[in-house]
Amino acid sequence: MSKTAILEVDGKRYEFPILIGSENEVSIDISKLRTITGGITTIDPGFKNTSSCQSAITFLDGEKGILRYRGYAIEELAEKADFLEVAYLLIFGELPTKEQNKKFHRDIQKQSLVDTDVQKILDGFPKTAHPMGVVSALTSALTAFNPKSVNVDSEEAMYNAVVKILAKLPVLAAWAYRKEEGLPLEYGDNSLGYVENFLKMMFDLPNEVYKSNPVIVNALDKLLILHADHEQNCSTSTVRIAGSSHAGLFASISAGISALWGPLHGGANQAVIEMLEDIKADGGDFQKYIEKAKDKNDPFRLMGFGHRVYKNFDPRAKIIKVAADEVLADLGIDDPVLDIARGLAEVALSDEYFKSRNLYPNVDFYSGIIYRALGIPVPMFTVMFALGRLPGWIAQWREMRLNKEPIGRPRQLYVGATERAFVAENKR
Ligand code: CMC
Repeated sequence: MSKTAILEVDGKRYEFPILIGSENEVSIDISKLRTITGGITTIDPGFKNTSSCQSAITFLDGEKGILRYRGYAIEELAEKADFLEVAYLLIFGELPTKEQNKKFHRDIQKQSLVDTDVQKILDGFPKTAHPMGVVSALTSALTAFNPKSVNVDSEEAMYNAVVKILAKLPVLAAWAYRKEEGLPLEYGDNSLGYVENFLKMMFDLPNEVYKSNPVIVNALDKLLILHADHEQNCSTSTVRIAGSSHAGLFASISAGISALWGPLHGGANQAVIEMLEDIKADGGDFQKYIEKAKDKNDPFRLMGFGHRVYKNFDPRAKIIKVAADEVLADLGIDDPVLDIARGLAEVALSDEYFKSRNLYPNVDFYSGIIYRALGIPVPMFTVMFALGRLPGWIAQWREMRLNKEPIGRPRQLYVGATERAFVAENKR
């Protein structure tokens, strides 16, 4: 294959280098386009064809349904690793040794206290506040308690910032839930594993001894692994672009949490369960909702279906579907919504509209069913996604800073009014 691409504009030919990724992906390097053409740009709404960076963290092949973190298949990691090992792998590039893993966990535990003044900020929120807004705001507020920005040239400073945010985000998440429930705040128990401790911080009651259930701990661990990174998605691109102005790690992550909140991204897991509930309440007629989703005059979309990158199947959805069956069986739960989900998926997958557009169930389609079985309240579903995605955001932020990427600042094609004279108020 030629190593350059040719662009012809008004009879002038311009040559651009072609970059080849480690999985033989081809990318035309147009970074000098404006300079050599005297101002021509490209336009690509939603960045559907744009590689915003070179990254060595996650490989995704949407056509083949492949997802690998640092070269390791998601299926293998979900089965054999635990969440903190995966976090270490994503952030630092290699699976930790036994000693590194132990130290990593211990260092996170040492940072798991959150300044009690953060509670005063939490107190200011109404109980009705959505926990994603609360967690995003509190994460940003952490910057005020850790005012020095990370020295990215110091491995030690970077490591300390990483363990700090991994330690504190679960506390903030649990607090957002406890505030909504009117429960006293809780700091967990450092003798427990990361996921088990999070569950204790969520569900411990002042008048009962908290008993953890290994089925729930393992299922949540697996879900967090499946969500841990997904290359340049909306929230991760937000984290990278916020961080590219040299905004701090916590502030950048707070921006990522806000981006994740939307129903087209992480907020879909809440939207899916609400949609399934609506279908159930409406008598369980899937076909009606399939028709609504296909109707271009109806804004309704089948939540949990479709993906910008996966055009065959979402490997995470495959694993979660099996896990949902196992968890419900293990916990002895019979959730009628799972039958609706299965039925809806079956009908959609054989419908020409969905087939021709390559719309398949995505990660969010079945995750809400497991979260609900694990006792996680619906408004907290997207917060669970954020906890899972945290290592990915950190890894991508760190990579962006270590690669000394320039500030993210796209161009635009201006289509507004051309210059005109000011019109006095009485003449408008
Ligand atoms: N229901 C009905 N039609 C759909 C859906 C859907 N869920 N998703 C896409 N389409 C149609 C869309 O109307 C368009 O049709 P046409 O070509 O006739 O105009 C075509 O499929 C292509 O859709 P698109 O909006 O151009 O695709 P996109 O890559 O911009 O959007 C998406 C991807 C995930 C935002 C979209 O599929 C969607 O809104 N899905 C529902 C929300 C959802 O489940 N989001 C979670 C994504 S996975 C977790 C995550 O990454 O956060």
